[in-house]
Amino acid sequence: MPSVVIVGAQWGDEGKGKIIDYLAGESNMVVRAQGGNNAGHTVIVGDKKYTFHLLPSGVLYRDKLNIIGNGVAFDPEGFLGEVEKLEGNGFSADNIRIDERAHVIFPYHKQIDALEEESRGEEKIGTTQKGIGPCYMDKIQRSGIRVGDLIDPELLWERLKLQVSKKNEILEKIYNTKGYNLESLYQQYREHGQKIKRFVTDTTKLTHEALEADEKVLFEGAQGTLLDLDLGTYPYVTSSHPTAGGFSVGAGIGPNKIEEILGIVKAYTTRVGLGPFPTELQDETGEAIRQKGKEFGTTTGRARRCGWLDLVMLKYTARVNGLTAISLMLLDVLSGFEDIKICVGYEIEGEETTDFPASLKRLGKAKPLYKTFPGWSADLSNITDFQDLPKEAKAYMAFIEKYLDIPVKIVSIGPGRDQTIVREEIYRK
Ligand code: GDP
Ligand code: IMO
Ligand code: MG
Repeated sequence: MPSVVIVGAQWGDEGKGKIIDYLAGESNMVVRAQGGNNAGHTVIVGDKKYTFHLLPSGVLYRDKLNIIGNGVAFDPEGFLGEVEKLEGNGFSADNIRIDERAHVIFPYHKQIDALEEESRGEEKIGTTQKGIGPCYMDKIQRSGIRVGDLIDPELLWERLKLQVSKKNEILEKIYNTKGYNLESLYQQYREHGQKIKRFVTDTTKLTHEALEADEKVLFEGAQGTLLDLDLGTYPYVTSSHPTAGGFSVGAGIGPNKIEEILGIVKAYTTRVGLGPFPTELQDETGEAIRQKGKEFGTTTGRARRCGWLDLVMLKYTARVNGLTAISLMLLDVLSGFEDIKICVGYEIEGEETTDFPASLKRLGKAKPLYKTFPGWSADLSNITDFQDLPKEAKAYMAFIEKYLDIPVKIVSIGPGRDQTIVREEIYRK
């Protein structure tokens, strides 16, 4: 049962899409287990750029099964749009499967997401406004509509009738805005359901069978550990579990089926959306990283907040995920800085700590304590052999490995597939 879980070890956008596409080449199956089209995963092949939001990042390979698991918040409009784009680029959608248990995002979820954000004023989260939170709220409240309901016209009518009446009441009475017309929403979503029917099945069975047959299964995390509903910087989080433990529930597999947990780590830190960020650089260095790393959101286009690498945070995310290996991303972006800093501790109210605080109030007061490393000027983007990396870059990585006690098995020095240095194979066999 060779299996690898890919998790974002920071606040998302670590470069998961690139590594998933890379490892998908030697996998049989790629499985999404949480989140929805709030994700934006970039894959670059040759001079062509693809971005995936809801589709697993293995879809560029014809012979791999790509699964949208039970834990995903499924937006039929987003899905059909992405399938059209994929097919327009000459690829096939035939190998995509959607679990019948996944919960469906409806237009009222997106609208409520936007209205809720507006009503939070200064306290807003900065969501992607894709309806993720409200869809998961319905799921938790046990009133959600699942993919299996969507493709059954009678069930859809029954469930939607109830939901539209409830949501209209909220929209009209709380938000003072117009509700939805049940008939037209039903017709529209019934049609979507019929279009996606061919993809729908019990994916937990497919994944189980693949693992039993010793096929290689890659679990694709979306978002990042600090956006986890339980373990992240609550309330500035998403509404799912992008941590290793989330894959068992979100894909319907036993936790003992997971072999490797590969943490995707950006060589510095970024965050899109609001909330505390101890190493954030609101100066020309932060701007230089943003420009060099092209740090603008894949889903919303927002400028990402940038800062130095934070090992206090990574020690925590490594622990709560049980990371077994690291893929260090965007190392090329750090070329050209005279000095590079790594945060190795926080000072909070006059006291030093290396523990990542659960309290947002404390995290907001954390002053990073830095260790400074000499930079390097060489362009890394064409290097193919680890030994050829500048000694300063190797020292930077060695420090990260030592601090976390986790091996950096992959080093990424550019967005392309071939700009990937593998020091040690990720699959155990
Ligand atoms: P994801 O959400 O974790 O899949 O990450 P995103 O795709 O949102 O953002 C990562 C960005 O970095 C994308 O534009 C990638 O093409 C790019 N990228 C990934 N790896 C590297 C790398 O090693 N170097 C550089 N320069 N860019 C990279
Ligand atoms: P990928 O998979 C970075 C952030 C949003 C916001 C918070 C809640 O590309 O790494 P939501 O719409 O999920 O309710 O928003 O989570 N967020 C992400 N940030 N990368 C992502 O995905 C994200 N998905 C959600 O910006 O702060
Ligand atoms: Mg992204």
